[in-house]
Amino acid sequence: MAKFMPLSLNFLITFLILLQSANAAYNVVSFGAKPDGHTDSTPSFLEAWTMACSSVHPATLYVPHGTFLVKTAVFSGPCKFKVTVIITGTLVAPSNYQVIGQTGFWIKFINVSGLSIYGGTLNAMGTSFWACRTTGSNCPTGSRSLSILSSTNVLLSGLTSINSQTEHIGIDLCSNVLIRNLKAFASSQSLNTDGIHVQSSTGITIIGSVIRTGDDCISIGPGNRNVWIQQTACGPGHGISIGSLGNNANEDGVQNVTVTGAVFTGTLNGVRIKSWGRQSNGFARSITFQNIVMKDVYNPIIIDQKYCPSGKNCPNQNSGVKISQVTYSNIKGTSSKQEAVTFNCSPSNPCTGITMKQIHITFQNKATTSSCHYAGGTSSGVLIPASCL
Ligand SMILES: *[C@@H]1O[C@H](CO)[C@@H](O)[C@H](O)[C@H]1NC(C)=O
Ligand SMILES: *[C@@H]1O[C@H](CO)[C@@H](O)[C@H](O)[C@H]1NC(C)=O
Repeated sequence: MAKFMPLSLNFLITFLILLQSANAAYNVVSFGAKPDGHTDSTPSFLEAWTMACSSVHPATLYVPHGTFLVKTAVFSGPCKFKVTVIITGTLVAPSNYQVIGQTGFWIKFINVSGLSIYGGTLNAMGTSFWACRTTGSNCPTGSRSLSILSSTNVLLSGLTSINSQTEHIGIDLCSNVLIRNLKAFASSQSLNTDGIHVQSSTGITIIGSVIRTGDDCISIGPGNRNVWIQQTACGPGHGISIGSLGNNANEDGVQNVTVTGAVFTGTLNGVRIKSWGRQSNGFARSITFQNIVMKDVYNPIIIDQKYCPSGKNCPNQNSGVKISQVTYSNIKGTSSKQEAVTFNCSPSNPCTGITMKQIHITFQNKATTSSCHYAGGTSSGVLIPASCL
């Protein structure tokens, strides 16, 4: 037996060293961050990130309990290895909205492959910025709270974002992203405070979000493929939107999006596809909306291809965006006006292949109505409102 002891001890020590280095942890407090809510902790966060990102073993960036004041911060890759960020505390932006409001983002991760962020609360302190947007002048453009840009294999789990200046979370040029149990809250009166905006990305899964804001719950912009949105609670806000599409004449389309198991409460829209009323080579195809409950929703089901805010640069034009293969299945509940289904498609590019099955939406306990312009497809099962396809 004794003969083997040195060997197994050696093994044990090697194992422990490996374990320790594999768990390389960088606590922002060790880099000078103060959980007091008013000391600028930005440099400490960035130094801790640089260490974690350059670690030759998978590393953890740890943000403990407390409130950390963080200004505009870019966490750049590429990193040597996977990085896990564990946040038990809160990141708060300066109360003067000018400080983060000029750059378009507050916290940005860019060019990271293998990034997991667990927990955390982001408070961008957006209320005074919204007031400026609503009543004031010389407001900055405003910033989204968390931007994930040009990254792959990303997990956001259990993040809470409150009072963003503009969007809460933005995903752009990414692939393989999972957002799990996000909470995003802002006033129903705040402008452009979308919960999650996804653009030019592939393989996006969003599960278990609770989003109450002044704008879209989730918006899927141009250039997205393979998006899965499950078990979402939206409202107040503007609902789940594919679009706006067709803002540019030359634009990548949206393909293979599924929204399943959503509840919309008091929202302006439920499930919407929206394009500008002007020329574009964009498209939206293979889109499924299923197993959805509407509670007092103004436009439960809507395709709007005549989007032309302020009547600028698009009056009397037709949308070039081609919408096809859109399925609405098992959608029930109530609307807040009589017309519950609105398909307002492009005269030059009619919607094709719309499928409606098992739709039951009432208004004041009576059947709702539907309206179709340039929309074609098939319907089956219980249909309230009656199909206009
Ligand atoms: C992203 O990382 C690659 C190397 O992997 C580098 O060449 C490129 O410049 C980086 N891009 C940005 C925007 O940082
Ligand atoms: C559509 O997207 C889902 C993920 O949301 C993916 O599993 C599926 O393979 C995609 N389908 C096609 C045809 O690419």
